[in-house]
Amino acid sequence: MAWIATGELAGAVSKSGGLGIIGAGNASPEIVEKEIDKVREITDRPFGVNVYYLSPHVEEIINLVIEKKVPVITTGAGNPGKHLAALKEAKVKIFPVVASVALAKRLERSGVDGIIAEGMECGGHIGEITTMALVPQIVDAVDIPVIAAGGIADGRGMLAAIALGAEGVQIGTRFICATECIANEAYKNEIIKAKDRDTVVTGVHGHHVRCIKNKLTKEFIKRVEAGVSIEELGELGAGKLKAAAIDGDIEMGSIMAGQISAMINDIKPVEAIIYELIEGYKKELKRVQNIF
Ligand SMILES: Cc1cc2nc3c(=O)[nH]c(=O)nc-3n(C[C@H](O)[C@H](O)[C@H](O)COP(=O)(O)O)c2cc1C
Repeated sequence: MAWIATGELAGAVSKSGGLGIIGAGNASPEIVEKEIDKVREITDRPFGVNVYYLSPHVEEIINLVIEKKVPVITTGAGNPGKHLAALKEAKVKIFPVVASVALAKRLERSGVDGIIAEGMECGGHIGEITTMALVPQIVDAVDIPVIAAGGIADGRGMLAAIALGAEGVQIGTRFICATECIANEAYKNEIIKAKDRDTVVTGVHGHHVRCIKNKLTKEFIKRVEAGVSIEELGELGAGKLKAAAIDGDIEMGSIMAGQISAMINDIKPVEAIIYELIEGYKKELKRVQNIF
């Protein structure tokens, strides 16, 4: 999560038993290097960097993760194929974020270590298939570990993902409302206030983004209906995640968040969030076992 998943958040997640991921977004290698160093000040446990393939700095970020011996990368918005050999030689594990069976199979053939199957309930850039439908299809299609993402914020969601065949879960929106997350309080409060139908998908085919409804999403929908060009939409969206996440502009900023926002009601430390997830998972597992 660009601007949001900084070293503070990733470090707290790894320290608490998860695998924290720094969202590199479009950031320069100098900025990402500082975030990597922050994680290492917080914990010596494994962590990862999300490499955004539309960034102008992809090559430099790949070189940086190799140089800094980052144990894991996740990749979004592109195919890491051409970097696989170098990453593998450096023993960096590669988990691309995928929204279709075909891409999951292609990436497995190219040698990635696992697949993050992301359903369209999630916040930010989304595909077309729900987590419930996508995860088991990808699990059936590949022989490498599958991590489920999209719409998971408590132990029930985690158990459901495991029941669908996932080996683990990737969680975004819930961690925005972590004490350690540097996102502006106004952004966090919008997630806490959100009800079931308060997110909306904006953009056009291939560029769909889920965020909490506000003036910006209304403007997006108006312009899409008017048939404006992708370039004009791109200009409207430029810098808007930062505007919401850092400056707290909840009217014209992009409050990217998933449908699960409605189930997030508080801001608490990462350790407490992970504890609740695991305890909720165990409790739910017992309930399920008692049914039959
Ligand atoms: C604000 C925000 C920013 C995100 N940015 C990225 C990103 O830069 N790269 C990426 O691969 N996924 C990104 N995601 C997706 C998350 O990594 C994760 O897969 C998703 O949030 C999981 O679904 P959930 O939001 O329902 O928990 C973003 C999600 C959010 C909410």
